[in-house]
Amino acid sequence: KTIALIGAPIEEGSGRRGAAMGPAALRIAGIDTTLAELGHTVVDEGDLRPLPARDLANHPRANNLQMVAAFARALDASVHEAARAGRLPLILGGDHALSMGSVSGMARYAAEIGKPLFVLWLDAHADFNSPETSPSGNMHGMPVAFFCGEAEFAPILPADRPMVDPKNVFQVGIRSVDERERVEIAEHGVNVYDMRAVDETGMARIMHEIIDTVRHADGLLHVSFDVDFLDPDIAPGVGTTVPGGGTFREAHLIMEMLCDSGLVASLDLVELNPFLDDRGKSARILVELTASLFGRRILDRPTRSA
Ligand code: ARG
Ligand code: MN
Ligand code: MN
Ligand code: MN
Repeated sequence: KTIALIGAPIEEGSGRRGAAMGPAALRIAGIDTTLAELGHTVVDEGDLRPLPARDLANHPRANNLQMVAAFARALDASVHEAARAGRLPLILGGDHALSMGSVSGMARYAAEIGKPLFVLWLDAHADFNSPETSPSGNMHGMPVAFFCGEAEFAPILPADRPMVDPKNVFQVGIRSVDERERVEIAEHGVNVYDMRAVDETGMARIMHEIIDTVRHADGLLHVSFDVDFLDPDIAPGVGTTVPGGGTFREAHLIMEMLCDSGLVASLDLVELNPFLDDRGKSARILVELTASLFGRRILDRPTRSA
């Protein structure tokens, strides 16, 4: 299958500068050649350069709404288009607000082919705020609420677009949830495997459960990987570090199990801030993890399991 690299240099959702350099850093770390060496055909569509959505009024509690909406619209269109053409969209972020567009584009595609869309959200944060609940007003904390239809405060995308059922959202690695967000994710039935669940249950079992659910529903799986899912010791290049994150081995295991499942339809790599990184360390880890997701393995035969 052909992989379409789609650069989304948005940083306006994050409340600080730097994430707009994310796509460049991922390319410099060799995302295209790494995937090509694994035998994939890679088409780099370059970076999106949308104009701010001037049809929307500024919102006091949704910072940089016009720019976030512009990227959401551009991504919704290009991700949908790539998926329909039989390519696998790989979005090079850019802050996490971009997932409003990438997930919406995949939700439209899934609805067209009559399959349910599932989202695996690998993140320290639940990103289920709306302008009313957000403590910061930063829209990278709102994408999950948005694509679940719970943040319809402005016509960013058509209100009649296909939404994602919150029960089809699996969040793993969560360890920082705002007060009102906590209530929202519980009310809407988002499946949250917080860090305590990871420690108690183990990553392998959690991933088996998620993969089995998607497989039994014959669904498509969108994976959204926020750099801050990882522990800051191994991935410092992100503006919202939270201690106690996913380890190198847990992250690779997730990617290897997803690869074997054959269910992944699209991928976001988000929140990489090269300005905060340590000599390209975080960019490189993201590329290595992406390699595991797309077929790199330790041995050329199945791993022995007990
Ligand atoms: N919950 C906080 C907020 O709403 C932080 C969100 C961080 N999100 C992210 N994609 N890094 O502002
Ligand atoms: Mn996030
Ligand atoms: Mn996060
Ligand atoms: Mn609600």
